[in-house]
Amino acid sequence: KKSEAWSARFNEPVSDLVKRYTASVFFDKRLAQVDIQGSLAHAEMLAHQNIISQQDHAEIQRGMTQILEEIKAGKFEWLLDLEDVHLNIEKRLTELVGDAGKRLHTGRSRNDQVATDIRLYVRSEIDNIVGLLRDLRLALLDLAEQHADTILPGFTHMQVAQPITFGHHVLAYVEMFGRDAERMLDCRKRVNRLPLGAAALAGTTFPIDRERVAKTLGFDDVCHNSLDAVSDRDFAIEFCAAAALIMTHVSRMSEELVIWMSPRVGFIDIADRFCTGSSIMPQKKNPDVPELARGKTGRVNGHLIALLTLMKGQPLAYNKDNQEDKEPLFDTVDTVIDTLRIFADMASGITVKPDAMRAAALQGYATATDLADYLVKKGLPFRDAHEAVAHAVRACVDRGIDLSDLSLEELHVFSKLIEADIFQVLTLEGSVAARDHVGGTAPNQVRAAIARHRAQLA
Ligand code: ARG
Repeated sequence: KKSEAWSARFNEPVSDLVKRYTASVFFDKRLAQVDIQGSLAHAEMLAHQNIISQQDHAEIQRGMTQILEEIKAGKFEWLLDLEDVHLNIEKRLTELVGDAGKRLHTGRSRNDQVATDIRLYVRSEIDNIVGLLRDLRLALLDLAEQHADTILPGFTHMQVAQPITFGHHVLAYVEMFGRDAERMLDCRKRVNRLPLGAAALAGTTFPIDRERVAKTLGFDDVCHNSLDAVSDRDFAIEFCAAAALIMTHVSRMSEELVIWMSPRVGFIDIADRFCTGSSIMPQKKNPDVPELARGKTGRVNGHLIALLTLMKGQPLAYNKDNQEDKEPLFDTVDTVIDTLRIFADMASGITVKPDAMRAAALQGYATATDLADYLVKKGLPFRDAHEAVAHAVRACVDRGIDLSDLSLEELHVFSKLIEADIFQVLTLEGSVAARDHVGGTAPNQVRAAIARHRAQLA
């Protein structure tokens, strides 16, 4: 028995192992719907240009409609012998409609076909991901709003730095996910170009109308060089880079959730439906979802590197290497989509423990900068103020007390400029409320930022 798709040229069939090695149908069948969409647009153009007859076009439409139904019903028989999604569908079309099916591939190659399919696929997944990033931001905005006034210590170097509001902390992630959505939409512009018409690599001898196909498929433009059209996968790499950044942001948030849920910290609890227990330790409740998200970030980063490495040694134009673009891409999409869905849901399953946050903020001299700023406002140069407060903190550390525990007389040892109004300045509420400018942690500013984000997402 000879090889199926290009029999005449070959004297012997490939071995079963080679067949399995070179086939992609078991993962690229995911592209079936976009493959059919692309084929229908191509056929419509062929008919419009009188390259095939209206009759053939109608037959192709009829056959594809049935194939789509078979696929949706799980009745389509995918054959390894037919290598990939494209040849499987074309073969079935020919079974159903005869010669019209055989005419579909006029002026086309699997090279421009597959490049078109992936672009249609990535475009629609970008839209899904942008929608999920929106859901996640809306959920985080609700959480931020509930805790616009809740105070916790802000950290640098994992050491207590200054008091901040929890709403402000959550809004930092809203900013990150906002940039992620922008990046996806920017990437979409370069995804949304049509390769079809490039054929194998050099274009085609038929009088095709590429703009017509681009319009039918909703592409903004055609790819302007046929060699580039079939061999470019930058758009997929860019997509994976944007996805890796999404996961990086999710991973940083996950790390914080895990730390915050540790009993040593106890800032939050996460609803049971996002946690699991231990098979041996009956008391355990583990934050599995954030831990797994942190772990899955590794595979998404890996897929980005896989695609970069896939491309770096390829001469123009198409090479079979490119078949390897699909699994990393598909797994990136699946991982990011599941993760974003779960996180949008989990945001409302986070219980904040304001007392624990407050207690932590009261340790570690979080308002020392406020005391220094106070002295500056009384006329002391900042460096001198910094030094005076360092002495005061040092004295408090020795005595195991807070700055606010010092009496006015005791504070005068460090600076004569300190007056009774200092005690308001040293409170947590005074500290956060004083940072009242765009981008600051004051509850006012948190509420204003939430309103801005909501207006933008509306
Ligand atoms: N399955 C192939 C891929 O994913 C389709 C293109 C094959 N083209 C070729 N000339 N072998 O890239």
